[in-house]
Amino acid sequence: MTDLATSYMGLKLRNPLVVASSSLTGNLAGVKQAAAAGAGAIVLKSLFEEQIAAETAAMGRHADYAGHTEGAEYLQGYGMELGPNDYLQLINQAVKAVDVPIIASLNCFSRSSWSDYAKKIAAAGAAALELNIGLLPTRGGQKGRAIEEHYYRILHEIKLQVNIPIALKIGPYFSSFGEVADHLGRDRVEAPPFTVGWCGPGETPSRICWSKADALVLFNRYYQLDIDIDNLELVAGNPLSTSSEINMSLRWIALLHKRIESDLAATTGIHDGRDAIKQLLAGATVVQVCSTLMINGMDQIGRMLGEIESWMQTHEFDRIEQFRGHLSQARSKHPENYERLQYIKLFVGLE
Ligand SMILES: Cc1cc2nc3c(=O)[nH]c(=O)nc-3n(C[C@H](O)[C@H](O)[C@H](O)COP(=O)(O)O)c2cc1C
Repeated sequence: MTDLATSYMGLKLRNPLVVASSSLTGNLAGVKQAAAAGAGAIVLKSLFEEQIAAETAAMGRHADYAGHTEGAEYLQGYGMELGPNDYLQLINQAVKAVDVPIIASLNCFSRSSWSDYAKKIAAAGAAALELNIGLLPTRGGQKGRAIEEHYYRILHEIKLQVNIPIALKIGPYFSSFGEVADHLGRDRVEAPPFTVGWCGPGETPSRICWSKADALVLFNRYYQLDIDIDNLELVAGNPLSTSSEINMSLRWIALLHKRIESDLAATTGIHDGRDAIKQLLAGATVVQVCSTLMINGMDQIGRMLGEIESWMQTHEFDRIEQFRGHLSQARSKHPENYERLQYIKLFVGLE
């Protein structure tokens, strides 16, 4: 009997197939459809602070509050309440409507908002929270360490204030991703110098206990920039991935399995059961899917689960734990193969 059940951030999942945050999960109908199709868990569309700020600004213009500090402040507070209200309601309804874990998703830009919204989301009943953090430092003078600390600090402050599991969904744009993953993937105590300030019980200016993420979600596929050469303008690239984009997250999942304490969720380029199996063999705790559901419909979940099950039967695995991480670097006799970057004829037969 094949058992696909798995545990993700301490949550019990009937299988490791998670519907990723996107417009598919931005309303109750989508959530119900994903659960009925067999998803192991569902990540809701992100709540973006930018959206709320934009709505508030538009309201301000209508009410002629522009330049009126008290009015603007009032509206800012009002917007904070109004914007997330629909979202909090969606969490509440989704949790009641389906029997799979509902993971909320948040993307903020101001420091105080991260914690404020995280607390509200936890109170609304989400089983966990995924922080969708993305920064693209493009100008000189933005120090790598300061950018990294921004991520550490957001995670740390939220972990101090909410009790539900926290996943961090990030991109690969770091100068030393191994160091960043180590930092995000373990609880640790650090002495100065740091720029974070201090905020938690037992913490002092000379001692900070950094919190680890319960899961790292690797890697977000951000908005793609493209150029229209006929009309000489910027346009959006294809929002949907292909299977050929799986390799970057596959490498890092394989490198990080058993090296950090956080669970690992793979995202980007997972389109069928074979892609999901690759990620599980590399060491993923769960796989997240989005583009393939937009292309093939929600029923793709059932097809992927069927493919995983039949592969497990062929290889005589009853449970996912029996093969998870089997092809991770930690379990390999040739760990150097996971760190190869160059095409060398000796290995790949190409000039
Ligand atoms: C239309 C669309 C909307 C998305 N919205 C979000 C979002 O709100 N928050 C988020 O963290 N990721 C969002 N994503 C990214 C997906 O969750 C996923 O990480 C990405 O598409 C890569 O996975 P895939 O190859 O399975 O599509 C979105 C993707 C698409 C295509």
